[in-house]
Amino acid sequence: MNEPPRLPEGGFAAWSHDRLGVARRGADECGDVWQLEPGVYVAAAAGPCEEVLRRAQDFPKAPSPLFPPLKRSSGAPTPEQRAYAHAARMRGLRPQAVAARIGEIARGTARFADQWPTGQDVEILPPVRHTLAEIGVRYLYSEDAPTLLPLAADLFLAREVLVRPSRWAWPRWIPTPARRFRTRKQVAFTDALRPIVRRRRSSGRLGDDMLGQMLRPSPHYGLLPEEAILDTLPAITVATFETPSRAAGWILLHLARYPRAADRVAAEAALLPADPAATTSTDLDSLHYTQALVREVLRLHPPSWLLTRRAPRRTQLADYTIDAGSTVLVCPYTAHRDAREHAEPDLFRPERWLDDADAPAKGAFLSFGTGPHGCEGAALAMAMLTLLTAQTAHRHHLSEPPGPEPGYQVTTFEGLATVGLRLRATGRG
Ligand code: HEM
Repeated sequence: MNEPPRLPEGGFAAWSHDRLGVARRGADECGDVWQLEPGVYVAAAAGPCEEVLRRAQDFPKAPSPLFPPLKRSSGAPTPEQRAYAHAARMRGLRPQAVAARIGEIARGTARFADQWPTGQDVEILPPVRHTLAEIGVRYLYSEDAPTLLPLAADLFLAREVLVRPSRWAWPRWIPTPARRFRTRKQVAFTDALRPIVRRRRSSGRLGDDMLGQMLRPSPHYGLLPEEAILDTLPAITVATFETPSRAAGWILLHLARYPRAADRVAAEAALLPADPAATTSTDLDSLHYTQALVREVLRLHPPSWLLTRRAPRRTQLADYTIDAGSTVLVCPYTAHRDAREHAEPDLFRPERWLDDADAPAKGAFLSFGTGPHGCEGAALAMAMLTLLTAQTAHRHHLSEPPGPEPGYQVTTFEGLATVGLRLRATGRG
């Protein structure tokens, strides 16, 4: 039996103190697959990361504990119904569906850039999150968005309380106050959504948004049961703005740190239509450098920097044996800083994505995961972030607050984020 190497002076104590540092040390000193503790392995390079994510039978993903299906007398949707719900959501989230709604997204991101108060240091993540929630909720529910937006903000809050680091890992069945709060917010959201679903179905006006796609009958499985629609939507609704706002924090920070890159983004954005609502997917596709910059920031700071899988049965990964019952952590963060895949991996160089000959291999970019659980919202996220970046750089120079201390804290607990990020905008004039 060939065990992955173990990092000397690694282990949970070191890990809980500096997770990014230990992840890098593990990759540097132990190689592509290493062991953090007995039965906890880390896939640190692109090859094994991709392998774990693609082999979903051998390395299943645990159901998200954040918004579990609500208990009902009719029972939870079957695995088959969940798979159909996934297919129906993807019809609404695929690149062609996003491409048809670029004007609407651009209007939301332009409003953010226009409303940024200039000449003062501003804590920017709350307004970013608000903007992206408005865009995301509108993308999913169109004219029903105003009803659902405040409830979506509550879901986010409930999630924040739930994932806050705590001294105790309560068993899943204990109804802690945070879990009761989450369930109340989930019930409130679902209760508001149910009459919308019923109204749309009974009127026959299903809607051109993502919900509309879920309501359309499929030649394959007919109509989705109401509960199969309702159960998945709290998590999807929060997903439209939670990770994107973490990504946006890193991007805005890079616009402040790299003014020449920001100038280049601004020059590209000058060619966008003056009326944001008139922006089309062709305009979006023309923002080559801006897209490369977004991708480069996502490479250096993948907001979902560590993904968790289990190995229910003994299996092989790379040349190693993985014991039954182990946890496997997939680490896009270290995979993205591997010099075999990305030349000078610690350098911020958006240009690397522009030259097809030099661009990193497709499988080497793992910020949106891959395989059967890869990100459903990648096209929507890229559209929102590219437009937000272009319009912000077009209107403002950004800078960090003066002084030796960074205007944010890096957290790694629930994603890689710039908590408390403060930035100053000055009009480009
Ligand atoms: C920059 C923004 C985003 C990043 C970096 C990101 C990243 C990821 C990653 C890495 C995964 C895979 C998780 C895993 O394998 O365990 C994932 C899954 C997922 N993402 Fe995103 N995401 C983003 C935006 C979005 C948006 C806008 C949506 C909106 C619908 C979304 C919906 C989802 C869903 C539903 C899954 C779960 C798929 C599954 O388990 O089958 N994400 N995302």
